Amino acid sequence: MDHVPSLVVDNGSVNEEVKINKEKEKRLIVLGRNIHTMCLEVTEPDVDDEVTGDREAYMAGVLARYKRALTERTKHHLGYPYNLDFDYGALSQLQHFSINNLGDPFIESNYGVHSRQFEVGVLDWFARLWELEKNEYWGYITNCGTEGNLHGILIGREVFPEGILYASRESHYSVFKAARMYRMECVKIDTLWSGEIDCDDFKAKLLQNQDKPAIINVNIGKFLHHCFSLSIPFSLPLTLFILTLTTIAGTTVKGAVDDLDLVIKKLEEAGFSQDRFYIHCDGALFGLMMPFVKRAPKVTFKKPIGSVSVSGHKFVGCPMPCGVQITRLNYVNALSRDVEYLASRDATIMGSRNGHAPIFLWYTLNRKGYRGFQKEVQKCLRNAHYFKDRLVEAGIGAMLNELSSTVVFERPHDEEFVRRWQLACKGNIAHVVVMPNITIEKLNEFLNELLEKRATWFQDGKDQPYCISSDVGEKNCLCALHK
Ligand SMILES: Cc1ncc(COP(=O)(O)O)c(C=O)c1O
Repeated sequence: MDHVPSLVVDNGSVNEEVKINKEKEKRLIVLGRNIHTMCLEVTEPDVDDEVTGDREAYMAGVLARYKRALTERTKHHLGYPYNLDFDYGALSQLQHFSINNLGDPFIESNYGVHSRQFEVGVLDWFARLWELEKNEYWGYITNCGTEGNLHGILIGREVFPEGILYASRESHYSVFKAARMYRMECVKIDTLWSGEIDCDDFKAKLLQNQDKPAIINVNIGKFLHHCFSLSIPFSLPLTLFILTLTTIAGTTVKGAVDDLDLVIKKLEEAGFSQDRFYIHCDGALFGLMMPFVKRAPKVTFKKPIGSVSVSGHKFVGCPMPCGVQITRLNYVNALSRDVEYLASRDATIMGSRNGHAPIFLWYTLNRKGYRGFQKEVQKCLRNAHYFKDRLVEAGIGAMLNELSSTVVFERPHDEEFVRRWQLACKGNIAHVVVMPNITIEKLNEFLNELLEKRATWFQDGKDQPYCISSDVGEKNCLCALHK
């Protein structure tokens, strides 16, 4: 596929028919400069617009083109952990309502167009998943995983105003943003080659700061070197699936996750009793995949953790970004204030809160249930293995962590191709996150295009495949030196 239509490049904001010359195409694909090059200007209606209908027709045309672009972009999306496969047709009837859950999910405000009944239903589901009793948890549906992190860390700060925030270097940027926003002292912990927190460094840094309580961000989701079978919460039959695959991975780029049990052990070894630390678990990425894997270090409130957050729009799939935050009820008091104007309580980061999101989550949880999620996790892992094997067969260096659905491989040599498939790249590596909507057919289509393109990148010998040994290890690298 030689020509990528400008429609793709500009995310629907330009006319499909417009042809772009080579020079412009080059400029357009400069990273960081490739969007916002077009703007759908807002113009004042003409006086006779209502009569002529021109404005309506213009707007309908723009929206139709945008919808086509979205459809195309949805088809060619591989790099981010978003499940784009969902059907919420049954909920379209609700778009005429301004549903807002402002205030506390458990305290009805005077604003009656809300969806708290759905929100609390979803929260109960997650509290059960993470083993916290109904009368012991508090939580809310957030705007995204980032908000969950901001909230979890804020609780930690309110519980321990003098506390130091500890987080591995590979933690999501929202964690460091929280430290800046709350002006907290933040200590970055080294990571292992896999990207997971280096617990020896963690302990050493704890020992240097024994006089101050510890607030720790732990990335959850990855389980290395275990043999897995699926854990089946609630009362589902225990014989459903056996997985003996590999790792579910959780940090943003490498997909690494910290060993929660070891983090707790290091805290104990460094003399931190449970009343002197607060752990926030960032499960944004794969927090909802991992509960279906047994014999892995489990995220549960039976352990001394303070909060867990996940993104709702990732594995679950949702038209709008959203997330879930669960914490212990006794902690949230440290943070909340009564607001007379709302007739509710303020304990969330945001004021107005999206009341549609809980209904979308509630809808999917009801439709799929645990069994549905189990099947999807299994499918993602199978497809990720298939994809990685096909890459290696084709001579492309690739890595797939145990029980991970993130396949890391050599960065394509053409940024236009990277953008066409919306790959996430860092340095010499790119990754594909196999979500439930990424089928074998889609992976094959990608592979065929990649192989075709590759043949042209390397045909005259001027360009060579990148060496990715420092990212994925020598055994996974197939560059000229390591193959
Ligand atoms: C580990 C981790 N934490 C937090 C986030 C932030 O989640 P969101 O994009 O929902 O704000 C991400 C996003 O990918 C992530 O990978």
